[in-house]
Amino acid sequence: MSAQNKITEIQNKKGVKPISALTAYDYPTARILDEAGVDVLLVGDSLGMVVLGFPDTTHVTLSHIHHHTEAVARGTKEALIVADLPINTYQDPEQALENAKLLVKAGAHSVKLEGGLAQTEKVSRLTSEGIPVMGHLGMLPQRVKEEGGYKKKGKSDQEAEALLAGALALQGSGCFAIVLESVIPEVALKLTKALDIPTIGIGCGEKTCDGEIAVITDVIGSYPWFVPPFATARADVAGEISKATRGYLENLTMPSK
Ligand code: KIV
Repeated sequence: MSAQNKITEIQNKKGVKPISALTAYDYPTARILDEAGVDVLLVGDSLGMVVLGFPDTTHVTLSHIHHHTEAVARGTKEALIVADLPINTYQDPEQALENAKLLVKAGAHSVKLEGGLAQTEKVSRLTSEGIPVMGHLGMLPQRVKEEGGYKKKGKSDQEAEALLAGALALQGSGCFAIVLESVIPEVALKLTKALDIPTIGIGCGEKTCDGEIAVITDVIGSYPWFVPPFATARADVAGEISKATRGYLENLTMPSK
């Protein structure tokens, strides 16, 4: 199926069925998630923390995302692959286009970038070149240092209005969907209702967005050192790895005499 058809299929779910999205950073995970029927696989810059061991996403480079997008693409047959444009790789429309093209060449069907009104020219430039764009509003992890932490968004009227203006501007410039991160539930639901394109929420509460995105390591419990309060672990992969490793260590043998 073409990328555009996948996107249309996902958009048609709005108001009908929940859209599923998970991050993936490697071949086996992408293949397992794809075969399980996930709609969207995001090669998110969260890979900086949960795969590469950095303190936040601001250390992630284009070459990191490129490398992991290639691996995810090798494991994916059906899902829509979205690759994050890392910090400082979309400072103007031409830079955004050049870097988005590299990620598409690596196997991404579309790219995601953070921010609202300031990004509309870049979104228009990419979409006019046939590169689909997913927006990202609310808590913007690439701005965590300026923000001084991961904070809920939309608490004041002014913030809620800015989110709505940003969301409508992203939609107007051609985004096919928007991730809402850590937006308070009432405002997330308001944005979902105001937009024709789907919203995909993380940390926005239940029944507020057209879809949900989660970081795969939170879902499978493979990165136990930091789990956001809103995440639900559905497995304990870290515990299983530890158990298997202890079993391996206990069963090592010496050569026969
Ligand atoms: O990088 C990422 O994992 C993300 C999600 C939190 C949406 O951007």
